[in-house]
Amino acid sequence: MIKPDAVANGHAGKILDQIIQAGFKVVALKYTRLSEERAGDFYGIHRERPFFGELVRFMTSGPIYAAILEKDNAIEDFRKLIGATDPQKAEAGTIRNLFAKSIDANAIHGSDSNENAEIEGNFFFGADQRF
Ligand code: CMP
Repeated sequence: MIKPDAVANGHAGKILDQIIQAGFKVVALKYTRLSEERAGDFYGIHRERPFFGELVRFMTSGPIYAAILEKDNAIEDFRKLIGATDPQKAEAGTIRNLFAKSIDANAIHGSDSNENAEIEGNFFFGADQRF
């Protein structure tokens, strides 16, 4: 997901370009806004964490881009491309280093495993929306 901060700041196009230039194939893409219920479901594994409420508030604050991306070694390579969760710790040139302001407003989300990528892809896209 390209998160509400990056969309509101006009960075979505540049971020998508960086992703494509890094060799990821866009299999599915959607511009949408999460309801509180949907954001809570998406981040369900964080429900007990102290930042959950703020995470849901932020993720519902504006529209996002959701995407399914494909590449060899996609999980690891995408995490390298986007940088650390906390933009203060993200390496120079990574998407979060370039475009993110805080740990909540951190511009982009990437799946942390193939298993979660499948779950998160199915959360946003039906079979007829993938190419
Ligand atoms: P994301 O990769 O979307 O997964 C969960 C999100 O919770 C994370 O990025 C951050 O934006 C947000 N978050 C806020 N506080 C924390 C924290 N202390 N540790 C991890 N994630 C956090």
